[in-house]
Amino acid sequence: MRRKSLVILSALIAFLFFAHLSRGQNPAPGVHAADDGLAFTPPMGWYPWNEFGQEPQNEKLIKEIVDALVSSGLKEAGYAYVGPDEGICFYRDAGGKLTSNLERYPSGLRGLGNYIHRKGLKYALYTDAGTRTCSKAMPGTKDHEFEDMLAFAEWRADYLKIDWCNAGGQDVAESYTKLRDALHAAGRPIVYSLCSWGVGEPWKWAGSVGNLWRTTGDICSPGKADWGNAMKVAAANEKLYEAAGPGHWNDPDMMISGMDGLSEAQNRSFFSLWCMMAAPLMAGSDLRKMTPSTIQILTNREAIGINQDPLGIQGRIVRRNGKVEIWAGKRLFDGSQAVLVLNQGAEPAQVRVAWPDIGLAESPALYVRNLWTHQTAGPQGGGISVTVAPNDVALLRISKRNAFPVPPIIVADSYLVSLRAAGVAAQKLTRVVTIKTNGSDELPLWKVRPGLPSWLFVDVTRKGKSQTLTNTVSPGGLKKGLYHALVRADNVEPVSGRPMSALYYDVDLEITDGAAGRERN
Ligand code: GLA
Repeated sequence: MRRKSLVILSALIAFLFFAHLSRGQNPAPGVHAADDGLAFTPPMGWYPWNEFGQEPQNEKLIKEIVDALVSSGLKEAGYAYVGPDEGICFYRDAGGKLTSNLERYPSGLRGLGNYIHRKGLKYALYTDAGTRTCSKAMPGTKDHEFEDMLAFAEWRADYLKIDWCNAGGQDVAESYTKLRDALHAAGRPIVYSLCSWGVGEPWKWAGSVGNLWRTTGDICSPGKADWGNAMKVAAANEKLYEAAGPGHWNDPDMMISGMDGLSEAQNRSFFSLWCMMAAPLMAGSDLRKMTPSTIQILTNREAIGINQDPLGIQGRIVRRNGKVEIWAGKRLFDGSQAVLVLNQGAEPAQVRVAWPDIGLAESPALYVRNLWTHQTAGPQGGGISVTVAPNDVALLRISKRNAFPVPPIIVADSYLVSLRAAGVAAQKLTRVVTIKTNGSDELPLWKVRPGLPSWLFVDVTRKGKSQTLTNTVSPGGLKKGLYHALVRADNVEPVSGRPMSALYYDVDLEITDGAAGRERN
């Protein structure tokens, strides 16, 4: 009996020891992400800082960018999070509460969020962990953490970047952990983006605090794309590959693809690197002025599929020869592998990628998909040779099968349902939210989380790659006033069985005095 308990005890100790070891090697998904299902793939969207800085930012600019994001096809390609960065969008009033800067944002920050949500996009806002933001034009959250996170929740943010300016004397991990607790207390699931530029080595601890953390300083000053610095940022971020995974990402900053001063090859190479590093794909250029080539690069669905892979592995350099790098180590959800060859030299490079270079056995005949020419070669035994122009890349996917499925890319027609109804009469109002996947496979039915208020019922139906979430409101008996529900639905990626990022949308209901039921505008 005693021996038996000893055996059990040592098995338990061994289990705890190995559980601890494996956590040390690759931090477990953040508590945050595990609970709320946020950012299981790297967030995609647009942020203004790289191109605009703070001065020209206002409601008109952000709305024009939102419209361009939709009309250019970026939304269909998966870009969703959008909003002002340090765009001087709020003040702190005499009572300590954050209030919208109505001169720059006449609809207020909730109004801007509604505009974004109605377009089927997600709302991104910005603040700072110190006393003021970097320009000092906006208040930071220091000593106002809980009330400020409530303000962001009331504005219906879905993503919050928290900067690290004017934070002298503060401890990085403590400050960002307090802000995480404040976000939790505010009750709205918000993707939490830490921006300490690598200060405090967040890759060591932030997996259980936020969903992404900047690993380096700014990639460029506003309006000045800097290729050389971008390559340094990529090199620093590459080393941290072990810290990345579903719900917790290394963030090497917003993208510079499409900004003035970069060649087409540099735009393509930059985008390929960010895809390979499972980096957040936050476009940083002026989306109103994109050339066809920029649009083609930013919406390359096969490259995006590498970035949005549900396994969430960050690729790394496996071989370097002078100015030529081979990146691999990125196994994908269908068992295939992503490989990137980058030539930073001044001459074209002839490169042989041998299967053992990228961790595969030498013998098998494999299919090779070029994600920029969209052509498949093979089956090839032993490896493949590619010629790569200066500053250019070959972005490849290597598989046993001649099939290269793209993982789910989710697009919604709206993330906001608003209805108005008379409360007394028994009636039903219905409004549908349509969600589709632009990946290769159909998805199982979205599962709506229980716990909705009694006045709301959501039914899900599927037709091919589209699903409709039918929201039926039964307001009979409700008192006059405003009601709100946040609907959460979950799904899994069907090939790997991995959980997908949770889907959230807002339902607003206004009960008036006897007016006929209709949609609010
Ligand atoms: C810091 C951040 C940038 C941007 C600016 C705003 O420099 O790293 O991305 O948000 O602040 O002032």
